[in-house]
Order: sequence, then structure tokens, then C-alpha cells
Amino acid sequence: MTVGMGAVCTTLIAGVEAVRKGIAKPIGSLTQMGTIRLGKRTEGRSPLMRDFLPLAKLDDIVFAGWDIFGGNLYDAAKTAQVLDKETLEKIRPYLESIEPMPAAFDQNYVKRLTGTHIKSGKNKRDLAEQIRKDIQAFKKKTDRVVVIWTGSTEIFLKQTAVHQSLAAFEKGMDDDDPGIAPSQLYAWAALTEGIAFINGAPNLTVDFPAMNELSRKMNAPIAGRDFKTGQTFMKSVLAPAFKTRMLGVSGWFSDNILGNRDGEVLDEPQSFKTKEESKLGLLEMILQPDLHPDLYKDIYHKIRINYYPPRADNKESWDNIDIFGWLGYPMQLKVNFLCRDSILAAPLALDLCLFMDLAARTPSLRGLGIQEWLSFYFKAPDSAPGVYPEHDLFIQSMKLKNTLRHIMGEDLITHLGLDYYGE
Ligand SMILES: NC(=O)c1ccc[n+]([C@@H]2O[C@H](COP(=O)([O-])OP(=O)(O)OC[C@H]3O[C@@H](n4cnc5c(N)ncnc54)[C@H](O)[C@@H]3O)[C@@H](O)[C@H]2O)c1
Repeated sequence: MTVGMGAVCTTLIAGVEAVRKGIAKPIGSLTQMGTIRLGKRTEGRSPLMRDFLPLAKLDDIVFAGWDIFGGNLYDAAKTAQVLDKETLEKIRPYLESIEPMPAAFDQNYVKRLTGTHIKSGKNKRDLAEQIRKDIQAFKKKTDRVVVIWTGSTEIFLKQTAVHQSLAAFEKGMDDDDPGIAPSQLYAWAALTEGIAFINGAPNLTVDFPAMNELSRKMNAPIAGRDFKTGQTFMKSVLAPAFKTRMLGVSGWFSDNILGNRDGEVLDEPQSFKTKEESKLGLLEMILQPDLHPDLYKDIYHKIRINYYPPRADNKESWDNIDIFGWLGYPMQLKVNFLCRDSILAAPLALDLCLFMDLAARTPSLRGLGIQEWLSFYFKAPDSAPGVYPEHDLFIQSMKLKNTLRHIMGEDLITHLGLDYYGE
């Protein structure tokens, strides 16, 4: 079940249907195309993940969701301008058969959008209960459910007292507490129904103590927030490369132009602030200036996102990185990524749904609440209280693969490798 059926969501659903029909390949999806090495390098065992793991099959996935605009997904996909007309026509009847349910929405949290297809209720608790009913009805049609937020970026919210315990949060819903955004109502409804919840956007939705408590209580997994797709994906590749060679960084300027509805929402300062905070944390976490003050203590990190309609979903980003090497001599690196926002995000959304569904069925994982092994997919990964989150893409990837080996009772891979040399 997807909350928000805009560009990312329609690209996900259209893509899954195109793959099912044999029209296209699921490129960018680890669950569909990735392999996993098992045992020693000499054993030659590297099955496809989807053959190794008991993941749901694409043919078995059924989609439903909510949006603040009505109409079917064919029209929504056309509005999103991600996929070409030829591809959309081939799957048109399928997309036309899906229509969003009315959403729980409040314009105070996404100021640039005016919803026309929304629920009304006497307070936030009432809206959340209506979402629960939607989920219960869908549960009757399916064996298992996961809920994913592919909705707009809400305004920046900080944790307050209402987020500190489940009891405080539930009372807050009764009292219409302003700290509770619509995304949190969906998360509460899903977790209360014992269903995993994924947050693809940067808003404060599940990463606070009340949701952590609910997630553990209901054995319903949660993870981080905000898909790590374009510029931040590149940052989490390059920053570890500099650090691993002990090269210094004095500045990192990241600029973007983006013309889709997400870009329009992010043009509003309070939604931009939410995105900015989610993108900013990563460099400090990876570079650890406290451990390496000579290399990273004075880094100047700046992020800009400009709404530029002519580009629609085809985002362009520029990074200027000022680095320094041996004896402090300066160098520069420029990265110009002409990417496609939803083309990068859709396979991550698919993988997260399949992996979270697997986590919900794995006894050693589901009671943990936060699924830190899925940090690989998020700009702002979540982690246990007191443990710093891991942002380095390659450590995240190793952690993910070792968790999959753990789930299947295979040996973990440490990369020590002494045994190849007779030790
Ligand atoms: N590469 C990427 O595309 C990428 C990467 C990371 C994060 N994200 C995030 O994913 C989210 C979706 O991006 P998108 O490009 O699909 O945006 P979009 O604007 O095309 O779609 C979002 C949809 O959510 C709907 N919506 C807003 N509030 C809602 C609510 N309360 N309930 C139900 N529906 C609601 C909107 O009507 C819209 O149709 C954004 O928050 C974006 O920041 C995208």
C-alpha cells in the first residue's frame, strides 16, 4: 500500500507491471537483479538474491494506496512525465484499474498542495482510525501487507513531548497535537495493524521513540527515511573514498535543478528545510571530524535545490568538492549527474517493500523494530538509541548481505580470508 501516488509510486507500479509483462527489465533493483556470494570464494556459489531468499514474487504483488488527488494511475503517471507514452500505452488498462483512496491530509504540513480527495474526521485519531479501516479491508484481499510513504515532503518538524512514548502520541492524536503530521497517522495505523512501514521521504514519521515502541510491541518493522537516490547516493560513495585514503575535504557545494511536483513542494522553505536536514547529516557521519580534525573539522557543506519546471522529473545536480592531499595541497572534483529522479527511486521502493516483508516474517528481525540492515536505501538511516547510523554505502551493502546470509543460516563473510593461505 503506497501513501502518495505521484511520480515515484506510479513509476514503481508501472515498472512492476512492465516487468511482469516482459516489456522491460527491473534494472536498479537488488532483489530482482542482484546476486549474493555464499561460502568461500573458491566455492563459486553466487545465486540471484531472488532465488536464494523467500521473497514475494513480482507476479504476486497487488497495489493499493491513497492520494489527495483522485483519478486513476494512468492519468497520474502521465502527469508525472517520467515514462514515455509508448510504455504507458502498453500497460494502460492495468494503470487505469487502480485509483487512490481518499487521503488523510492537512495543508499546514504540505503548503504548496491543495487536496481535493481527502478524508474528514473529528480529530487526528479519527483520521488514523479511518486509515486502519482501509488497511483492514485490503488485508482481507491479500496474504501480507507493507505500507510505504511515497507522499510529498512535509514541513520540518522536531520531536516534542508527544513523540516520546506511545501513550503520549495516542493522546496527542485525540488532542490534535500540531507535532503530529499526516504521515505519522499512516505510520501509526500500519504499525498498529502489525504491518511494516517504510518512509521514502525526509519527514519525521517513524524515527522517534513512540513509533519505535509501537513497532517493537507489534513486531512491525520500521527503517530510516528518504530514499538515497541521486546526489546523496554519490556523496555516500565519494566521501568514504576520500576518508579511506585520508584525503581532506574543505568544502562541498551541492546544487540541483528539479521540475516535478516534488520540486514544487521543495520550493517551499519549510519542506526544503526537511530535505536539507536529511541530506546534511551524512558527510559528518561518514567523515567523523572529531576523529580526524586535521582533515574534516572546517568543512563547509551547502545544499541548494531549485525548482525549474522545464526539466520535470529529469533532475540535474552539480557538486563542487574542494579536497586537499599530501602537505595540504588543494584539488577539486566536479560531479555533474543528469539523473532521473523516479527512475532511481522506483527500484529502491520495490526492494524496500520486499525486504521489509521478509523482515516481518523473520523471527530474529521483526521484534527489533528498526531494521538497520536496510540503511543502504536511506539518506537518513535509523539506528538503535546510542548507536550512530552507518552512511558509507559499502559498509551498508556488506551489512545488508550479511543480514541476508544470517536470515538463511549461511556463514557470515568477514573478508579476513586467511584460510585461503593455509592459516
Ligand atoms: N529520487 C526521488 O524521486 C526521491 C528520492 C528521495 C525521496 N523522494 C521523496 O519521495 C516523495 C515522493 O516523490 P515524488 O517525486 O513521487 O513526488 P510527487 O509529488 O510526484 O508525489 C507525491 C504524492 O503524494 C501525494 N500526497 C501528499 N500528501 C499526501 C498525504 N497526506 N496522503 C496521501 N498522499 C499525499 C501528492 O498528492 C502526490 O501525488 C517525496 O517526498 C520525495 O522527496 C524522492
